[in-house]
Amino acid sequence: GERVSIFVLPQELVLRVFRYLGPEDLCRCGQVSSTWAQVVKTGSLWRHLYPVRWARSDYYCGPPKDLDQEPDEDLVKGIQEEGRAYQEWDEDADVDESEEASEGCPAISAVQREKTLLNGMIQNLLPTVGSSVRSLSLAYSSAVSSKMVRQILIFCPNLTHLDLTQTDVSDSAFDSWAEFGACRSLKHLDLSGCDKITDRTLKILSLGLGDLTAHTNSSRSKLLKAPPSPIKLQEEHSLLPMGRSCQELIFKRRPGGRGLGCGPVHVWVLDPAEPADIEDAADWSRRGGVVSQESGPASVFELQGGGGSCCCRRSQRRSFRTGFSSSHWQYSSVGDARCGHSTCCTSEMALWTLREQCDTPAPGGAVDLWTKCSFEGNSCPERHNRTDKSGACRALGFLSLSGCCQITDLGLRCLSQRGGLPQLEHLNLSGCLLITGAGLHELVSVCPALNMEHFYYCDNINGPHADTASGCQNLQCGFRACCRSGE
Ligand code: FES
Repeated sequence: GERVSIFVLPQELVLRVFRYLGPEDLCRCGQVSSTWAQVVKTGSLWRHLYPVRWARSDYYCGPPKDLDQEPDEDLVKGIQEEGRAYQEWDEDADVDESEEASEGCPAISAVQREKTLLNGMIQNLLPTVGSSVRSLSLAYSSAVSSKMVRQILIFCPNLTHLDLTQTDVSDSAFDSWAEFGACRSLKHLDLSGCDKITDRTLKILSLGLGDLTAHTNSSRSKLLKAPPSPIKLQEEHSLLPMGRSCQELIFKRRPGGRGLGCGPVHVWVLDPAEPADIEDAADWSRRGGVVSQESGPASVFELQGGGGSCCCRRSQRRSFRTGFSSSHWQYSSVGDARCGHSTCCTSEMALWTLREQCDTPAPGGAVDLWTKCSFEGNSCPERHNRTDKSGACRALGFLSLSGCCQITDLGLRCLSQRGGLPQLEHLNLSGCLLITGAGLHELVSVCPALNMEHFYYCDNINGPHADTASGCQNLQCGFRACCRSGE
């Protein structure tokens, strides 16, 4: 039969194949051709990042729930020993810190690999795919610095799961969260053993999670009830100047619709159960592709790329909605300022995708919110800066500050404000030696979903739910703060 080169495969099929690959193989494929390099930088391929494991040839890249149980003790022990060896070597290495100097020591090499990997991700990968990243684990990393974390958090505004267990980070790592609503998708935050963290981080976190009390019903209802506006594709198309950095993303209900005159290059299959497909499609539009595919019983979505200016700039009151069977997407030009297009390069723009209304979250309810992105400045560096006050969920369900011994009642009070933490189920304050029963009572009073089995604090504090709450977890730990260590 006729032999066909793999390079004639449509990018969509290449992407489907790439979904079966791990990070190492993806990086190799990215070096094969410029086309593959582009496909490799598709956001949905980089949803879950575990650079510490990857640097040690463990290429797991699934969701973090599989890692929530017991961490691999041997792995943790090994990483910690490597960290100690690296620190000693780093302190001794006055001038010659070259890789050759550490060649004989696998422990040091592992940490160096981790450092190189982190720097590579920050410089080459996250600027492109950061908004698609949902979970990041840097647990036990001895290579990561506060500056690195700060950069990563700027690139990854839609994180739902962040694990910084036993790292050396300080408050400055979270500076980018000081913006109102900067981390409002966050559901799981593990800062166990980060003993440099102070109340400042909790204040920043509380700000970043948004404010449930600041919403005005009128602005929310205006956002949610804005009627769909039909889009005149021909008119949009005629306004597309080529070669500009701002791309166009158009979703339109038009049964049987297809691409525009420039002709479809590839077909993108939009999976109704996978909102990130929309983002992938947006990625592709930047590369000149046209997307058109049935996505639900009554919806056809078209995505027109080619490097044009954004529709929202031309229509000041464009707001439309697309319906999935299981999810609800909404794009709105709130206040004539935001279009929501994740590939636009204009200021004050934001995209919301809502599964449910999030302004009145039920404790423990399945409220879910993705805030895709918004933009600051004119350079579109994927630095998402949310300044809008809509859509706050304060959906944090897991918070561990175990061993963060500088935390005080003031930090807990910061978390209590702005609507509290209505969905918090797991709270670990073991080893927080400076907090008191009063501070705990205040916080717990605004955490109605708290599960007492997952509520840990010092045994010496006369705190809330003393009979049912779990005690301190750090009694036998040995390397995290505990007022009874050594007893
Ligand atoms: Fe008091 Fe552990 S911090 S018992």
